[in-house]
Amino acid sequence: MPIHSSSTGWVLETRNTAYAIGINEIGLLTHRYWGARLPFVEDYPPPFKSAYFASTDGLHHFVPEEYPGYAGTKYIDPCLKVTFADEVRDVVLVYEDFKVTASSPPTLDLRLKDSFYPLHVTLHYRLHEEYDLIERWVTLENRGDEPILVERVFSAKLTLPPGADYSLTHMYGRHNDEFHMQRESLTPGLKVIESRRIIPSHRASPWFAIDRNASEENGEVWFGTLAWSGNFKITAEVTEFASTRISIGLNDWDFAWKLMPKQPFTTPASISGYTQNGFGAASQIFHDYVRDEIIPHGKIPHKILYNSWEATLFDVDEKSQSSLAKIAAQIGVELFVMDDGWFHNRNLDNAGLGDWFPDKVKFPNGIGGLIKNVNDLGMDFGLWVEPEMVNPNSDLYRAHPDWVIRFPTRTLTESRNQLILNMARADVQEYLIEALDKLLCENNIAFIKWDMNRSVSEPGWADAPGDQREIWVRYVQGLYKVWGTLRQRHPNVIWQSCASGGGRADFGILQFADQIWTSDNTEPTARLNIQEGYLQFLPANTMEAWVTDWGKELVPLEFRFHVSMCGSLGVGGNLLEWDQADHESAASCIRLYKDIRHIIQFGDQFRLISSQKNNFSAVQYLSKDQAEGVLFVFRTYIPERFNFPMIHLRGMESDALYTVEGFGQPRSGRAWMEAGLTVELKNLQSKVLRISRK
Ligand code: DGJ
Repeated sequence: MPIHSSSTGWVLETRNTAYAIGINEIGLLTHRYWGARLPFVEDYPPPFKSAYFASTDGLHHFVPEEYPGYAGTKYIDPCLKVTFADEVRDVVLVYEDFKVTASSPPTLDLRLKDSFYPLHVTLHYRLHEEYDLIERWVTLENRGDEPILVERVFSAKLTLPPGADYSLTHMYGRHNDEFHMQRESLTPGLKVIESRRIIPSHRASPWFAIDRNASEENGEVWFGTLAWSGNFKITAEVTEFASTRISIGLNDWDFAWKLMPKQPFTTPASISGYTQNGFGAASQIFHDYVRDEIIPHGKIPHKILYNSWEATLFDVDEKSQSSLAKIAAQIGVELFVMDDGWFHNRNLDNAGLGDWFPDKVKFPNGIGGLIKNVNDLGMDFGLWVEPEMVNPNSDLYRAHPDWVIRFPTRTLTESRNQLILNMARADVQEYLIEALDKLLCENNIAFIKWDMNRSVSEPGWADAPGDQREIWVRYVQGLYKVWGTLRQRHPNVIWQSCASGGGRADFGILQFADQIWTSDNTEPTARLNIQEGYLQFLPANTMEAWVTDWGKELVPLEFRFHVSMCGSLGVGGNLLEWDQADHESAASCIRLYKDIRHIIQFGDQFRLISSQKNNFSAVQYLSKDQAEGVLFVFRTYIPERFNFPMIHLRGMESDALYTVEGFGQPRSGRAWMEAGLTVELKNLQSKVLRISRK
């Protein structure tokens, strides 16, 4: 059993790591250890003592309480903040008892309660031993008769070993330019990474990594994420006593939850891990976990899709889509997706959202004819929807103007001419479940792209059952309910999550969607960087990447394909305008991808030379059995003569012989890794080299 309990507390052990908690001499539940697994349970340090600091307000700045509620002299960033019915606004948590469940995966529940009020708090720990990950979340329960107003409830506090010499890596971006890595030294004070947009957004990802001089392959990295598709908050706090801690959970900005008697509140789960093998290993751990444990069809290779958006925009009908489908099938595409524009009155982005039935002018006999054509060409059919949205110019809005998120006295802010349906409302949920279920029952649809193209404004909910500010959480819960119900009714459908590109890329949405549309920016040299950031915490099979016409004036088609082949390959260019040579080149890249996709989608990924830092980059994928691999090398633009860098392959069996395409005689895995190889490329040239074990 990997959960050990003793008089000093609890030790949670995964394959290579351990996490220890205990109760100190004044009864405070404190963090003890998070790092490499040690030989004996007795090896882990005892709980931090409060004695020395007890008489000063430094206590909580030094002693790492496992889950601090705001109370007394706790000026540190707390995890829990509530107001009781009598206006008392601090929460004094005392340890009550614990429960270990030897299920698979095993869990530890630590139960705390307020020393005076009927507020009960359970800290949950679920161990994913094989992945070296611990999932943590919190349940609140009001066992009294009066509501308690919860103003902050994080999922976890994560304490680093004593010290203030850490760096934080996080991601920032914007529409068309997502997933920039930012690494910075943590200094005393509080650093906040958050979203206030009802989706995680392009601006920040719910992910962090903390290190002390780690590299891609070496060094300690503590990392984590929040499985939540809404507002999140990650704080990194360094106290004046050189104590460094991370908090992660729902954003408390404009948040409140009226905790009614006997109605528990459960936070989303945080998932965190530790490795001594650098940032690369941290990514691989998350890749495996997402593929194996989160996404619905993690074992099925993704089909190569064609998406018509960039070719036709809203101008879709049976004839034009069928002619694109014909060429798509010829070049080897397996799934044809019709994007925006197919439904009632949708000719531009100013009408139609909400009315999820085929437009009578464009599809007088429905979309069945197109689907048949696509299926007859040997491809599956997929469709675009944006269920959470409504255009004021739509039948739905005219019938239910009260369904949108709004403050009644404020002008509604439109964005892309659209408003957001309040997914927290049961009637909205029912409408969407029925409308989309009908679509899926009546048509042979194998794939749905679920889009979401604006952030929230005027976040009001006039007839909210509790506090209006619950909308931030209830919206996401409603989204999950609708999507979850549809998934249950149509288990074989593959779903893709999109929010104007990568605006909703998180472990929460991946419970429903197998893929994420990475970015609306499909220009290949920009894509290299966007993809590198994405792959820090999400696996390649979830990363949908189309080859389009962006960059075609400068960047060869082959380069564009190679970039997209680093994830789940798709095509989105206007095939009607591609010439014969383009079609042949596309067909040959698609044939190659079909041969290697199991390595890319299910193997280990190694970032050999970063594209975000260099104009010459290399990335390798290796099958789990180390037998087959593929090396992608890209040169974007380097304006002068260049010393080609050594590329050191990774992950191979040291003593086995391997060939690398184009490099003649086999060499040992160790030789490829230690001595390396060089690949010479011209500007805007790329190569894909296959690696095979003899
Ligand atoms: C935004 C998406 O990111 C695009 O791929 C496309 O689906 C459009 N929406 C359609 O309106």
